Amino acid sequence: MADPSSVVVRPARNVLGSLRLPGDKSISHRYAMLAALAEGTTHLENFSRGADCASTLACMEALGAGVTRAAEGGVDIQGIGPALQPPARALDCGNSGSTMRMLAGILAGQRFSSELVGDASLSRRPMARVAEPLRQMGATITCGADGRPPLRITGARLRAMDYTLPVASAQVKTALLFAGLLAEGETSVEEPLRTRDHGELALRAFGAEVTRVRRRASLRGGQKLHAISARVPGDISSAAFFLCAAAIFPDSNLVIDALGMNPTRAALLDVLAAMGARVAVLNLEEHQDELVGTVKVEAGALKGATIAGVQSAALIDELPVLAAIAPYTQDGIEIRDAAELRVKESDRIAAVARNLRAMGAQVEELPDGLRVPGSQPLRGGEVDSAGDHRIAMAFAVAALRASGDTLIRGASAARISFPEFFTLLDAVTQL
Ligand code: S3P
Repeated sequence: MADPSSVVVRPARNVLGSLRLPGDKSISHRYAMLAALAEGTTHLENFSRGADCASTLACMEALGAGVTRAAEGGVDIQGIGPALQPPARALDCGNSGSTMRMLAGILAGQRFSSELVGDASLSRRPMARVAEPLRQMGATITCGADGRPPLRITGARLRAMDYTLPVASAQVKTALLFAGLLAEGETSVEEPLRTRDHGELALRAFGAEVTRVRRRASLRGGQKLHAISARVPGDISSAAFFLCAAAIFPDSNLVIDALGMNPTRAALLDVLAAMGARVAVLNLEEHQDELVGTVKVEAGALKGATIAGVQSAALIDELPVLAAIAPYTQDGIEIRDAAELRVKESDRIAAVARNLRAMGAQVEELPDGLRVPGSQPLRGGEVDSAGDHRIAMAFAVAALRASGDTLIRGASAARISFPEFFTLLDAVTQL
């Protein structure tokens, strides 16, 4: 019997059409958490239907918020204010690092003890980066072996803090700002490189005052949040798979509208344009301070790219798909300064290298990245998602231009961020 979690992807002739994508995962998590801490009922449209955001909703429900899901991605969340209720059992974050890290910031400021657990992949991921600063704010936190989950958190009356993040991480920055909201005094978080600022923008949308000076965000503790009514912009990290798929076919033409265009997330558009794809952004608008717009991509001959430093941090979730299409570029793609990829849902550097080799490509694995030469034809074969949603989707894209069918083992991992992925891929690919 066929493995139900495997998918066969056929070579395509082209990518054509227009799409509207489900809500951004990063924004959905943050809105759900802040909605629980707010007074009143928040109404969200186009909330992510991925399993990760379902984990966040279930946790907020277990902490006392009222959660009602409507059809078509609508969610109502009845907030209970800053003092949440003690959960009856351990809070299950599933596969979601965002849920565990950001929620830790909120739980650190509660007057009860709680435990955060996750699946096998999440249980291998580093948590000391969030536990350590939260301890400095006054919470008692124990981790499992080597600073991994589970996290046991005994909340406290937190002290505000001025903290410089040793590793660029939007999840940790957001966790500390959420903790700062519950602390006495003004908390500042400085990041070594600019990361996505959805935490800051979401706090403002819910009524908190957050100031930002260069790479330093600050907020006063004790500010009250109010409920909002919002539509979550389409997820640009999900769009990345379609944008890259369009970029590798010379006659493609793809339009994605209502897409999140936050400048801290949109670096892929610059990279694709610099490689030679024709990228246009239209109809830009602002919703809750988040930029939303329409993106149109038509491919040209793709040169290559070197991605390093601040660009690697800005593209962290898009690097697997860029590496997966690198053989189809003229000069290849080199990725450096991306060691964080090794501690995502899988070791994404190793998983990409393994799968590219399985499709017949040469690839050099580096401690902090990959070097993938260009002008290499790929052949269909068997690849494995390593249980990682972005690896499954990246190789579905690579498979579109391979010679022969590709079997993607563990393709159902796409459900973590983008359950609609394979259906939408079918809709825009011409066989
Ligand atoms: C995210 C931040 C990034 C990213 C993840 C979502 C967020 O993780 O990889 O998919 O929503 O803040 P890090 O904070 O670990 O860099």
